[in-house]
Amino acid sequence: MAAFDVLVPVEGIGRISGDIEQRVALHRHWLEPDPERALARLAPDIKAIVATSHKAVVDAALMSRLPNLQIVVSYGVGYDHIDAGWAAEHGIIVTHTPGVLDEEVADTAIALTLATVRQLPQAERYLREGRWLEAPYPLTASLRGRTMGILGLGRIGKAIARRAAAFGLDIVYHGRRQQKDAPFLYYPTLIGMARACVILMIVAPGGADTRNIVNREILDAVGPDGIIVNIARGSLVDQQALIAALREGRLLGAGLDVFEDEPNVPQELIALDNAVLLPHVGSASRHTRQAMADLMIANLDAWLDGKGPLTPVPETPWRRE
Ligand code: 8YV
Repeated sequence: MAAFDVLVPVEGIGRISGDIEQRVALHRHWLEPDPERALARLAPDIKAIVATSHKAVVDAALMSRLPNLQIVVSYGVGYDHIDAGWAAEHGIIVTHTPGVLDEEVADTAIALTLATVRQLPQAERYLREGRWLEAPYPLTASLRGRTMGILGLGRIGKAIARRAAAFGLDIVYHGRRQQKDAPFLYYPTLIGMARACVILMIVAPGGADTRNIVNREILDAVGPDGIIVNIARGSLVDQQALIAALREGRLLGAGLDVFEDEPNVPQELIALDNAVLLPHVGSASRHTRQAMADLMIANLDAWLDGKGPLTPVPETPWRRE
């Protein structure tokens, strides 16, 4: 049987490569001394791309060079690094790993919310610096009596809403459309929701449609008593506008797990004491990363077995019988 050639554009977690390698011929593109020449040589044989990180850009320029490409399997639920529309138009399947990381990311979102409002990392630093011996830590803002506005009430947004409700928060949401079964107040515009909430929870997908939608106007609407929490993609937020709002006290705080140009975080942001910053760890527990890897590999295995993709992205033209 002819080899099933698979391109891995950038380095991801080793286990994925190890498992997949038993069934396919894996080409680790990032290890090629001359990546351009290697791609030219491999292009006609490549039938699948394995995107083991959201840093693996799979755009039309790459896919159009691979005439026999059948499927792109991606690790993670967000797939803004893949041009899924172009893939769909050209009959190429794209899969991602929805469902298995919702609870983990929602846990992180709530932890980040509490850490930001109650300044827990700052208070911890205060203790370690021996400053408690001099004076108690200053009083902080509170979750009490607050409204959380969820931007993007998908699976993860709903998992966050369940937790936030248990914390006694009022919940409102904004998204492309109202959801009939959602028991929360819907705002048809982001600005309308921003005016109504003091915690803006960003959970919507990245990509061209949502680029910088959280801009200065939105941040000012959330206001000087408000915080934003971003566990989605850095691209949704105008990072410079956010830095200015935090610096000028037009926003109380920000809890950020994602950034515009990861892993580069601007020094100006690092210097701000009202920002709690995490290195994109929303789903990064051993348990959940294992489940994501398993689902990604299961998608490729199902394709190789002729069963079709298990979790295709919505754009993918695939209908189950
Ligand atoms: C992963 C994520 O860290 O699922 C996503 O969309 O952002 C994270 O869970 C990432 O995809 C792995 O590179």
